[in-house]
Amino acid sequence: MLEITDLVHSYGSHRVLGGVSFSVAEGELVSVVGPSGCGKSTLLRSVAGLIRPSGGRITLGGEPVERTPDNLAIVFQDYSRSLFPWMSAANNVALPLRRKGMDRRRRREAAMTALEQVGLADAGGKFPWEMSGGMQQRVSIARALAYRPSLLLMDEPFGSVDAQTREDLEDLVLNVCAHHGITILLITHDIDESVYVGDRVIVLTRSPTRVAADLEIGLGRSRDQIATRQLDAFVRLRAEVGRLVRGGHTTTPASVLEKH
Ligand SMILES: Nc1ncnc2c1ncn2[C@@H]1O[C@H](COP(=O)(O)OP(=O)(O)O)[C@@H](O)[C@H]1O
Ligand SMILES: [Mg+2]
Repeated sequence: MLEITDLVHSYGSHRVLGGVSFSVAEGELVSVVGPSGCGKSTLLRSVAGLIRPSGGRITLGGEPVERTPDNLAIVFQDYSRSLFPWMSAANNVALPLRRKGMDRRRRREAAMTALEQVGLADAGGKFPWEMSGGMQQRVSIARALAYRPSLLLMDEPFGSVDAQTREDLEDLVLNVCAHHGITILLITHDIDESVYVGDRVIVLTRSPTRVAADLEIGLGRSRDQIATRQLDAFVRLRAEVGRLVRGGHTTTPASVLEKH
């Protein structure tokens, strides 16, 4: 559904993206991992139509992305700036639904359902400043879910929460992808996380950035924070992605990586 071909972007004379190509199929959860500053957010903003890349081609459902597509939702890392402080959780979640032409009652219902899905059934009346960071990020995820996007973009969404919350939110995202059939592109600099959540992991090089590897993860959809991370296949993939992020070359032929 998403096709990125030879994406190039420069800020002034600084070439950040040096020809990035990969595609995402409907219903897939693809993680993109790469070193800090390699252009992950630039890539995501290009897909979201928030910046116009210097070159290359992005299509979503066959249509070139020229401005922000309607069927898209984004979750950013900085939850403290992504919710309106003067609105309750339920109103934050319901707000974008106005664009869908839903009436007040239906917006409210959809917001409450989404809050329930992220484990915040009782927090609809709370304001952002009454909630922990993890809860605020759950509200951001609920807002994205309520909108029922065909593509959900997440830019290091768990980078600012504590370790326990991070694990809970990773599992929440796996759940969402499995049960709501949403296609997700999740950006992270965390190697373990990229393997834990991904059906596929796209590893980026340093700038000018290209795709170093496109790995099929093949761990199935039902993952467990403790058991999955102990699997030989997980340990091998994590080591492989780590090597690639540090600038090494893939040592394991794709055929071997795809087998387990
Ligand atoms: N608006 C901008 N103007 C100039 N340089 C930018 C801008 N946004 C990002 N950069 C630079 O481009 C590079 C890639 O940034 P970014 O896409 O945010 O990387 P990442 O998300 O992988 O950390 C960095 O060197 C950053 O300083
Ligand atoms: Mg970034």
